[in-house]
Amino acid sequence: MVPMSSYVPASDRYTSMPYRRVGRSGLKLPAISLGLWHNFGDDKPLETQRAILRRAFDRGVTHFDLANNYGPPAGSAEINFGRLLKEDFLPYRDELIISSKAGWDMWEGPYGFGGSRKYLMASLDQSLERMGLDYVDIFYHHRPDPDTPLEETMYALRDIVASGKALYVGISSYGPELTAEAAQFMAEEGCPLIINQPSYSIVNRWVEEPGEDGDSLLTAAADSGLGTIAFSPLAQGLLTDRYLGGVPADSRAAAAKSLSGDMLSEENLTMISRLNDIAQEREQSLAQMALAWVLREQGEYGVETVTSALIGASSVAQLDENLDTLDNLEFSTAELKAIDDVARDAGINIWADATASRRHAD
Ligand SMILES: NC(=O)c1ccc[n+]([C@@H]2O[C@H](COP(=O)([O-])OP(=O)(O)OC[C@H]3O[C@@H](n4cnc5c(N)ncnc54)[C@H](OP(=O)(O)O)[C@@H]3O)[C@@H](O)[C@H]2O)c1
Repeated sequence: MVPMSSYVPASDRYTSMPYRRVGRSGLKLPAISLGLWHNFGDDKPLETQRAILRRAFDRGVTHFDLANNYGPPAGSAEINFGRLLKEDFLPYRDELIISSKAGWDMWEGPYGFGGSRKYLMASLDQSLERMGLDYVDIFYHHRPDPDTPLEETMYALRDIVASGKALYVGISSYGPELTAEAAQFMAEEGCPLIINQPSYSIVNRWVEEPGEDGDSLLTAAADSGLGTIAFSPLAQGLLTDRYLGGVPADSRAAAAKSLSGDMLSEENLTMISRLNDIAQEREQSLAQMALAWVLREQGEYGVETVTSALIGASSVAQLDENLDTLDNLEFSTAELKAIDDVARDAGINIWADATASRRHAD
């Protein structure tokens, strides 16, 4: 028996969050979405997880992003989320966009990694079981796989949509040419890819760089009708005040998970401190400036260039600070230039090898 939930969502939850259209699809996502990569495994208190999810939904965050391997241990974020969903959010299922993914290592042997039909189909079934869902709203291929023909992965995504186990499909960490090729393939199949999920932040701008065909990933995706949801827009916490005065014991860097010590080099920390000064002049925190920057108007597609900033948060206070970004999304030309004068690549794109593992012509 599921205990009766005491949770009543805020009645004004749809009054302040902007929702942006995902590429050429009919789906809209909140400008800020919440990811469960870290902070939702068995190493974190369930009540903190519950409080973060409740506050997010209360403030208009309708999108929660998961993957098969989120934890630790792998799979536990989906189990914990499934439990909280059942206890608190089931009456609101139709107000939520829940995503999952497969592509990185999940189980032993040759069928627990990559982009094969075998892996994707089995993994989605497992994710649905862990979360207690009949379907996810978005299912992603999590990373390019050099060993599987693109057609096989795309046919699997198409058939997953046809089976009703995902409403929409997308790709993550694909480069510009492969994105365009995959999008064209799926358009011909009558099952468009709707979304592209790359890493992107002030200090990790690979999505803006021209690929072999001259188009950046942001342009190639938008031209192909895909929206873009930018993950790790805070560079895993580097673009916040978290590390300005040392490494807090409860931080991601201290846990030595995905944010390694060399990412906190003196050079990076000096840059972060200068970016923090610019943020203060804008009367924003560094985290807020970093999120507004990812969501800024740019290029041919303006504010539609990045549909949503996909953040993580280890506390309600962090989440609240991040959502307050929406009070000021505007930049003057001088502010953008000041940021560009200080910012350089911080060497934190740990997904670059996956992107490079497979290109258009491979
Ligand atoms: N597709 C992919 O391959 C892929 C890869 C990575 C991530 N993602 C998705 O993107 C989501 C976000 O990734 P991410 O967690 O790396 O994003 P992020 O927003 O760049 O970093 C989140 C971390 O930054 C710190 N933080 C957040 N807000 C803060 C604030 N206001 N003040 C101080 N520190 C703050 C927290 O670290 P502490 O824990 O130290 O407090 C938090 O856990 C993931 O959950 C996942 O859904 C996808």
